Amino acid sequence: MRNILVTGGAGFIGSAYVRLAVEKYPFYNIVVFDKLTYAGNLDNLLPVKDRPNYRFVQGDIADREAVRGAIEEYGIDTIVNFAAETHVDRSILDPDAFIISNVVGVHILLEAAHRHKIERFLHVSTDEVYGDIEGNYFSKESDPFAPNSPYAASKAGGDLMVRAYHVTHGLNTVITRGSNTFGPYQYPEKLLPLFITEAMDDRPLPVYGDGMQVRDWLYVDDHAMGVDAVLHNGEPGEAYNVAGENLQHNIDVIRRLLTLLGKPESLLRFVPDREGHDRRYAMDCAKLRALGWQRQYTFDDALARTVDWYKQNEWWWRKIKTGEYLDYYRRQYAARLAAAGVSS
Ligand code: NAD
Ligand code: DAU
Repeated sequence: MRNILVTGGAGFIGSAYVRLAVEKYPFYNIVVFDKLTYAGNLDNLLPVKDRPNYRFVQGDIADREAVRGAIEEYGIDTIVNFAAETHVDRSILDPDAFIISNVVGVHILLEAAHRHKIERFLHVSTDEVYGDIEGNYFSKESDPFAPNSPYAASKAGGDLMVRAYHVTHGLNTVITRGSNTFGPYQYPEKLLPLFITEAMDDRPLPVYGDGMQVRDWLYVDDHAMGVDAVLHNGEPGEAYNVAGENLQHNIDVIRRLLTLLGKPESLLRFVPDREGHDRRYAMDCAKLRALGWQRQYTFDDALARTVDWYKQNEWWWRKIKTGEYLDYYRRQYAARLAAAGVSS
């Protein structure tokens, strides 16, 4: 392992991994390969931009020639694939890009990996492939898939293609399945950065349904360290859950956020639910812990750090909340907020 292609490395979790790897492994060359979709942002990579072991290539994982060119130019021997369309709500509004990046793109990367004899291929997946988890159960890596949103189904498709390349071609693959991740540099469409930045401006906060959905919250640096542990120590062909081990009802997380921000509950609006909304995600991550990983941050500490980061870094998110973002926001929320009595 020497020359690592980190696809999607300009996004939220990918950039956290790049910041970690550039620092931790000065003897690896880290080449970020990213399409720079609306969610890709070179500002996320500013902390490493002058490091000698970091390079950036703009490219699409669904573009066979671009992938081949990057692998050959940089003598790539390892691929870590974070690249994906990632927002469930957008997959309900506009699913096409999800199939292209999350299914076709993964296939093109795998085919390139096979042809170029890549030594290690890590694919970043999600707990959403297991679907809605009832009762007190915690998903295990061997459980069947039951994805419910177009996003989750596209990730399950990519995941299965990775399995197929391991079984059929003997490609040295590993998969990580992470839970709901939060922290600095997260695009402000996901629950926590959306609510932090909207609350800072005293705007209404759209809680889907009754707010009693359960998610397992994982700090982004813990997620990045889980990926790193699996990259280096995971068994070929295996998948590993990366869980926050911190199940919370959405409404409890939101209330804690308001307390940290010193904002009133009167900002909350209970709006019509997300279509097909999974009620609960929960994973068992004993398999990852057996590799030596354990999370470093408590939820309270991580949430406080996150709120603090958005307060200190308005330069980062205010310029995002313009243009395409505002179009998306209107499409996603105008009718919902109107149904809750908020006029636009
Ligand atoms: P993100 O949306 O912040 O970033 C995605 C990145 O991928 C962006 O930089 C984007 O430009 C790039 N990208 C998208 N399509 C591409 C393509 N076709 N070719 C090249 N680059 C492309 O996403 P994130 O939240 O950092 O998620 C990263 C990975 O982790 C995804 O695979 C996602 O499914 C998975 N994941 C995310 C979470 C979470 O809570 N955010 C949890 C578990 C797993
Ligand atoms: O579980 C892992 C997944 O977590 C990742 O694979 C996805 O890429 C990532 O986006 C995330 O998916 P979710 O749909 O769970 O995240 P999101 O932040 O969109 O929503 C978290 C919860 O908050 C979910 O129950 C929906 C709810 N929600 C979300 C938004 C954006 C609201 O109530 N209101 C909102 O406006």
